[in-house]
Parts: sequence; structure tokens; C-alpha cells
Amino acid sequence: MDKIIVKGGGALSGQIPIAGAKNACLTLMPATLLSDEPLTLTNAPRLSDIRTMTTLLQSLGAEVQALNGGRVLALSSHGLNNHTADYDIVRKMRASILVLGPMLARDGRAIVSLPGGCAIGARPVDLHLRALEAMGATLDLRDGYVHAEAKGGLRGAVFEFPIVSVGATENALMAATLARGTTVLRNAAREPEIVDLAQCLRRMGAQIDGEGSSTITIQGVDRLNGATHPVVTDRIELGTYMLAPAIAGGAVELLGGKLSLVAAFAERLDAAGVTVEETAAGLKVSRKNGRVSAVDVRTEPFPGFPTDLQAQMMALLCCADGVSVLEETIFENRFMHAPELMRMGARIDVHGGTATVTGVDRLKGAPVMATDLRASVSLILAGLAAEGETVVNRVYHLDRGYERVEEKLGAVGARIERVRGDD
Ligand code: UD1
Repeated sequence: MDKIIVKGGGALSGQIPIAGAKNACLTLMPATLLSDEPLTLTNAPRLSDIRTMTTLLQSLGAEVQALNGGRVLALSSHGLNNHTADYDIVRKMRASILVLGPMLARDGRAIVSLPGGCAIGARPVDLHLRALEAMGATLDLRDGYVHAEAKGGLRGAVFEFPIVSVGATENALMAATLARGTTVLRNAAREPEIVDLAQCLRRMGAQIDGEGSSTITIQGVDRLNGATHPVVTDRIELGTYMLAPAIAGGAVELLGGKLSLVAAFAERLDAAGVTVEETAAGLKVSRKNGRVSAVDVRTEPFPGFPTDLQAQMMALLCCADGVSVLEETIFENRFMHAPELMRMGARIDVHGGTATVTGVDRLKGAPVMATDLRASVSLILAGLAAEGETVVNRVYHLDRGYERVEEKLGAVGARIERVRGDD
């Protein structure tokens, strides 16, 4: 398996282009299952998770062509001929569950393996299932698969999510577009990826109101048509690269970045003493010499501080002046990067969902291991300012969510290289 080697020290300067959002693309792709006309997605990111979704959709009989070096995805579910999402593909990626709602809505049946994904807690799919049940689906869990049926089609329903779930909101939203009558989703997720999905579905002819707020209303239609849709900017990639100059020093412009996508995160950076400015082309982040200040962080559903930036923010706070408290409220067991950062000299105490980070003057390079996607990149970020060499082993997870990380950071002056493994 590949490794990434980072040599710390040296301020960064230059520009990093931000790709389309992985998490948006992973929900836009299954939207093709709602229509037999073509769906074209532009600004797609080039990531292994996107290839996994491609394989999954192809296994169902959909056509997926990656054009323009993978930047454009041309999808068509005209030839959909299999309604079973197999364990071998689904176990690789939790977002595979997003084929359930669309297949069920279009053809009244779907069999989907229960998903795997990053090892960051139990991560059940009960809310996806309960929302679809409220729309009249009959569900049976057998042999690790969800067998779903909606004879005569789904029907509109009022469903209130007991907790905010991005994926369950997406599944229910897609399913509701073809249900008979009106669906009202309460306590819905408000993430930019939900707004992007609703915009794409509307381009396909769906009738949706209220996306971006906690109540989404969908008026079901008989059929959806084809469309072309640009994938929204990846706010997590944006936030991750905003942390590079914050940690290493210097100034970097993130091309395509928008403050509205990362407002809560940018506010915490500002509180830590990092400068974030809007420019004509995106966002510019700079840090003067000296340490950043300790700040407290609590992860929350959008518009709060994203759980997907918690590990990277911790990497910054390891060298802050003072004590920072990070509270993780979305996923249990999402501090697997903490022991690895401690191998680099960080002082971190984890108790349940809270990590207390006491800033040290400097981290020291060490061999470390990446245990999930965002944890992997947090170790690379930590390595940017560490003394000596940091070797991040097992970067398999990294490639699921960050395209060409070594090229993007290398282009702004980071000393980083990938060493290819045997497999
Ligand atoms: C999505 C993102 C992920 C991000 C997360 C939270 C994708 C592909 N992934 O994941 O990167 O970290 O949002 O912003 O978009 N839950 C249940 N039952 C369910 C579903 C969720 O209890 O049926 C719980 C989860 O365990 C978690 C919380 O709800 O504690 C939020 O999870 P959710 O928003 O669903 O995350 P994902 O959609 O899986």
C-alpha cells in the first residue's frame, strides 16, 4: 500500500484548486436511477469513492462514462436490469445505501447489502429505512441485506427525523420525488450537499421546496427527465487545505472556495488567529509567524462546525498556545487520529466524545498510520509543521476522498512525496 512522506518546515505560498464535492457527487450519481434519461454531472472529483459508486451503478445495469479525464460523468439508467446492490461493492463504501431510495421509487423494489465504510462508530442505517417505511415501503432484513418493496409505488408522507442525518435525508428526498402526493421531511439535514442534490433533482423535473432549511417539501411527479448539473465545491477539501497555511505558515489561495460553505469553521480559524479573506477567485488563508491561539470546537450538523474537519483542526491545535477542547457530537469513536498525533509529540487526552489538546511548541516527525479518511489527511497536515520526516502509512483511505493530495500540497511548497507500495 502507498505511503506519503512529509518533511516539515517551510511556509507555504501559492494557489490550490478545490475540486467538486465527493459527498455531493456520491448522492448525485444514484439520482440517475430515478430516470431513464441521461444525467450528466460536471465538476466531478476524481476519487476512488467515485469509482466505487461507478462500479455499483454499473452492476445494476446503469451506464457510467467518465469523460474529460473524469471531470464529467455521463450516466444513464435506461438499461437498469438488476435491483440487487451486492455486499462485495457496498462493503467498501457506506454511501452505497443511497441507491436504495431511488431504485425503490422508480421500480418498487430494491435489495441492498448493509453498508461498511470508514470505521468511525456504529453508523446504522435505521433512519434511511424508517423514512422509506413511512412512504409505504415494506422492508425485510435478511442475510445482511435490506429487501425493500413498494408494490404500487411509494406514497407521500410526513416524516420527522429523530436526529439529523445527511444520508437519510438524501435517500428520502430522492425517493419522495417519484412518490404519489406530498412528502414533508422535518428535521432534515441542511448541508450544502443536500441543497446541491435538490437543485439537480429540480433540473430533472422534481418539485422541491425548502432545501437548506430543516423542512423540505416534495410534491411527487410521475417521471423525471435527464439533466446536466455541476457538482458543488468540496467544502471539506476546502477546509482541509485552508488548514495547510494555518499549520505551516505562509499564505495560500483556495481557488473556488466560498466562505458560505465553511462559515463556522472559518470563524474558529479566525478565533485562533488565522486570517481568512475572500478574493475574486476564492479564499485566501494566511498565518503570520508565531503560534495560533487555542480554541474550543464542537462538531454539529451544518451550519455548525463539520465533523469531517475535526481531525484536521486537531492537527492545528496540537501546536496552539494554550488548551483546546474538541467535542465530537456526530460520531462516537472519531478520535482515532489522536493516538497517532501523540506519536508525533502532541498532548491529547480523550474522554468519551471530548478531546483536550494542550499545545506544544513543535511536533516531531514519526511513522504514523491512517485509520480513516479525515484522520489520514490530519496526519499529513501535522507533518507539514513537524520537525523531521513524517511517514503516513496505509494511505488507502486518503485516496477515497482527496485527489492528488501530494501534487496539490507540493505545488504550494510543501515537501511531500508518495512512495508506491507493492499492491
Ligand atoms: C455523511 C457524510 C460524512 C459526514 C456525515 C456527517 C457522505 C457520503 N458522508 O455521512 O462524510 O461525516 O454525513 O456530516 O455524505 N445515524 C443513525 N441512523 C441512520 C443514519 C445515521 O443513527 O440511519 C447517525 C450516525 O451514526 C451519526 C449521525 O446519525 O451519528 C449522523 O450521520 P449521517 O449524517 O447520516 O452521516 P452520513 O450520511 O453517513
